[in-house]
Amino acid sequence: MTTLTALGHSCFQIETGEHSILIDPFLTDNPQATVKPDEVNPDFIVLSHGHADHVGDAVEIAKRTGATVISNFEIVNWLGNQGVENTHPQHLGGGFNHPFGHLKLTIAHHGSALPDGSYGGNPAGLLFTIGGQKIFHAGDTGLFYDMKLIGAVGIDVAILPIGDNFTMGPEDSVKATQFLEPKQVIPMHYNTWPPIEQDVEAWAEAVKTHTSAEPVILAANESLKV
Ligand code: NI
Ligand code: MN
Repeated sequence: MTTLTALGHSCFQIETGEHSILIDPFLTDNPQATVKPDEVNPDFIVLSHGHADHVGDAVEIAKRTGATVISNFEIVNWLGNQGVENTHPQHLGGGFNHPFGHLKLTIAHHGSALPDGSYGGNPAGLLFTIGGQKIFHAGDTGLFYDMKLIGAVGIDVAILPIGDNFTMGPEDSVKATQFLEPKQVIPMHYNTWPPIEQDVEAWAEAVKTHTSAEPVILAANESLKV
């Protein structure tokens, strides 16, 4: 049984029973986060792109825990320069069998500059296959029609930004849900700051009306059994 836990904004934890995977660990300075960086103990950290609200506390957590950080080649190089010892580079379109399962990086339409302004390559979406379940964390992105291709593999849970302004907004994330056809869809990247405030209940109603997916709203520290 795999457990997916929201930790606020775009940060999620996947626990397989054997492994703990932390995605986009923005905890310090995250108004939604209820856990501190020293309270998480991942084996793996996965970063969708280089922005500060996604890289977050990755360096500190990786140094303390020895977790392996998986991201694109440019971000992984930068992490090495920050003193992170265990890393695994991938890039868009590439998949790899990790100890926890398979991870493929997909395209995302966004930026990826690192917190100090360094070049962070291209942003990614994260397609996990864990224990036969497919979990898609879209990262930060606008809507794109190739989500149909990503969804063709049969997605169980899609995690999509709905905040608008920096990423897809509610309407486009409903279209994205139509393209991806997941069984369940979880909103992220909203209500963290005023520019991305959204009525998440209205979004959930739109998902129910216009798609075949079940909307699942997870507040920080709430979990879903996958
Ligand atoms: Ni971003
Ligand atoms: Mn972001």
